[in-house]
Formats: sequence, structure tokens, C-alpha cells
Amino acid sequence: MRERAGCGEAAAVLRFNHFVDSKVNYPMQAAQLTPGLSKTGVFAELRQQLLGLVQGERDALPNCANAAALIYHTLPDINWAGFYFIRHGELVLGPFQGKAACVRIGLGKGVCGTAAQSRETLIVPDVHAFPGHIACDAASRSEIVVPLLQSERLLGVLDIDSPLPDRFDRDDAQGLDALVGILIRGSDFGGLAIP
Ligand code: SME
Repeated sequence: MRERAGCGEAAAVLRFNHFVDSKVNYPMQAAQLTPGLSKTGVFAELRQQLLGLVQGERDALPNCANAAALIYHTLPDINWAGFYFIRHGELVLGPFQGKAACVRIGLGKGVCGTAAQSRETLIVPDVHAFPGHIACDAASRSEIVVPLLQSERLLGVLDIDSPLPDRFDRDDAQGLDALVGILIRGSDFGGLAIP
């Protein structure tokens, strides 16, 4: 007969109680958008929701984790969304949604490393035609990578894959750039991005 709950069970109960009591920043509300929005409208709502998620939290780890979940569960026709951070001169996998991905990417390698090295957003309409593309999910057909820049400092990249060819355009680049700006202004990347 069991007399006491184990440590893990007690912790789970405490977390559950806290979750039920909490009325602030309940993240699951963030995955819902007004139906029928244009792409501009979707990004406007995404900005508001991301602002709400990072409000009161400066740690880049949970903020990037929530940003990846928000993007992955909101933007249509994507199969991977996540972050790589600069750590000791290479990109290292951070929070993401989608299939398991390669952990380390050298600067100048693949789509991510190329965008990181150039410090410019890179849209790849057909990943099969990109020399050196690193295939993490065979379903991916197009990709966009947005560098995370804090003034002159490269922190990492936001990477998004789609199973559709030619999925991303200039409006996506602008919309994602604004989301990245919210993350960078609202978070401390000190422990994640290591020059
Ligand atoms: N395709 C990327 C690698 C990362 S995955 O897509 C998640 C690249 O070529 O850099």
C-alpha cells in the first residue's frame, strides 16, 4: 500500500495547482487567431501575442521556446520552426517545434549557416536547389532563415521550413523580422548566445 506520494508526484500536483490558479499569461490562449486574417493581419496578431508571452520574462530560453510554439502552431504550411544560437563560433540547436534536427551547424554551412554568416534573411524557394542544404526533415521543400542581431552582435537564427515549394516571400521576411525584434528587445540572450 502506498502511504506517501513520491517527489515527482508531489511536484506534479503543485505545478497543476499553480497552473489552474494562474490567470496571467496563460500560453495556450496564444495559439488562437482571428479567423480570415490576411498575412499582414496574422503577423499583427502574432506580434501582440508574442509581446504578451515575453512580458515580464527576460530569459531568452523560455521566450524563444514560446515563440517557436507560437509560430509553428499559427503559420500555415510549415513543418519546422525553431532557433539556433551562436555558441563558440557555431550554431547550436535551441528551442524548436517539429522533427528532431541536426544539433550543430558551422557558419557558412547549409541555409542557416549561410544566413548567419551573411547576417541577412535568406529565403530558399527550393531547398533541393540550394547547394549544401542540410536536410533535417525530408518533407521540407522551402525555407526561411532570419538572423538574430542585437546591434552588431549575432545571437543566432530563426529557421522555418515548409513542405510546400516557394512558401515564403518578402512579407514573411518582414513579419518574422518584427517578431525577432520583439524577442531580442524583450530577452537576455547572455547564457544562450556565446561568442
Ligand atoms: N535546413 C537547415 C538545417 C536546419 S533544419 O532545417 C531544422 C540548413 O540547411 O541549414
